[in-house]
Amino acid sequence: MATRIYIFDTTLRDGEQSPGASLNVLEKVEIARQLERLGVDVIEAGFPISSPGDFQAVQEVCKAVRDATVCGLTRAVIKDVDVAAEALKGAVRPRIHTGLGVSDNHLQYKLKMTREQALERGVAAVRHARRYVEDVEYFLEDSGRADPDYLCRVVEEVIKAGATVINIPDTTGFMTPEEYGRLIATVVNRVPNIDRAIVSVHCHNDLGMAVANSLAGVMNGARQVECTINGIGERAGNTSLEEVVMAMKVRNDFFQTETRIVTQEIYKTSRLVSNLTGILVQPNKAVVGANAFAHSSGIHQDGVLKERTTYEIIDPREVGIPESKILLTARSGRHALQHRLSELGFHLNENQLDKVYERFLKVADQKKMVYDEDLEAIVADETSAVHITYELLQVQVSCGDHSIPTATVQLRGPAGEIVTDSDHGTGPVDAIYRAINRIVQQPNDLIEFSIQAVTEGIDALAEVTIRIRQGNDIYTGRASHSDICVASAKAYMHALNRLLDRVTPASQQKTLEHV
Ligand code: KIV
Ligand code: ZN
Repeated sequence: MATRIYIFDTTLRDGEQSPGASLNVLEKVEIARQLERLGVDVIEAGFPISSPGDFQAVQEVCKAVRDATVCGLTRAVIKDVDVAAEALKGAVRPRIHTGLGVSDNHLQYKLKMTREQALERGVAAVRHARRYVEDVEYFLEDSGRADPDYLCRVVEEVIKAGATVINIPDTTGFMTPEEYGRLIATVVNRVPNIDRAIVSVHCHNDLGMAVANSLAGVMNGARQVECTINGIGERAGNTSLEEVVMAMKVRNDFFQTETRIVTQEIYKTSRLVSNLTGILVQPNKAVVGANAFAHSSGIHQDGVLKERTTYEIIDPREVGIPESKILLTARSGRHALQHRLSELGFHLNENQLDKVYERFLKVADQKKMVYDEDLEAIVADETSAVHITYELLQVQVSCGDHSIPTATVQLRGPAGEIVTDSDHGTGPVDAIYRAINRIVQQPNDLIEFSIQAVTEGIDALAEVTIRIRQGNDIYTGRASHSDICVASAKAYMHALNRLLDRVTPASQQKTLEHV
């Protein structure tokens, strides 16, 4: 019989710790709703004590999610637990995820505690959390480099104190699959009261082995896998949800496991997370990369045309990859657009639909045939949850190999004022960004700029993704347009509005609490 594996998604917590991936409350709620459609068992919605923004996000996710367990992270600190419990109050199924380091490295350098002190602290945090909720997960940070004897002792004691899930993270992504599998087997076989808890795997990808390590954990008795959409997360990221789930599904003969994941929702979730975080998916990424189902060699193409399974082990439809179709034109009405959008899983309110339709007509005028990918880009642009402090009204550039690139922009400011300014730069985009800077006055560095075509063809929409840095904070911006200069200007405004959203309301400031 297949063993049930619980999928714990931490895109909104560990994933959001990726540089520049920060999401606002509305974006987190949108992702949480999609994660629920995807069928994850647990949504880790944030680290409530880390900032008022995280606290509010956890509260709002609790209101939006009915089916999945909603989890909040804490350090093994009484105040953290109190704050998490408060944030989780509205959840149908709340879970507090608390814990502390177990490796001598973390105890000595980070926590400056003895093993005994850390053990006491962990037990006290679990007991305290159990006063609020029945479901308490305990993480043993840096398990991968810990002494297994001490680790097993901590596991036994926190279970006695009431922990219901035991998380064994390979925090630094140091382990090999064989070692990690052995560590999970040690916990499962050696801890006398382990039958009272679920063992969970949480792997980082520093050596590219997070998915393999998680699967090795499953093979050795773990029943919960912690992962993120597109594998985003600290440094090289976390275990990728889509890879671990599809590995278990495609190789069910080997793993003999089952999850509740609706795999047809995978692609859409991947696109949503990529759009909202601005973290692009590498083209050769397993399962959701643009090339995952592309066959370029003649021999392979020939094989796939004769029989798909010659070179494809996953049917793209199984992960919800839509067949790209020419579907709408300028003559398609609002109803046809709404119908196709809902087939693609976008359920817009009237106001959003108005904006999307207006933009659709402009795009359809320019490129005649509008593909699903175009619709997806238009929806991402027009339904962005970022508060608009400055709105781009006009952009005009002059450039060429014998002229000085010059740009003029017109923006609507916070009080409704219309401001126009110009500047020159090393190229058209530089000139646009300088002209915008003259108005918005928020010094920052552009640290990443990428541009890609949404579909094939010379008339394709260009999608620009950028990252800007101000101090230690990174903000992403994303936008599409048939003109690459306009797309670049819009992406910059998107990032700047995020920045302004963060720097203006004091309630959104991170208070710099770290795990
Ligand atoms: O990687 C890790 O150890 C973590 C814990 C906070 C669960 O993310
Ligand atoms: Zn982690």
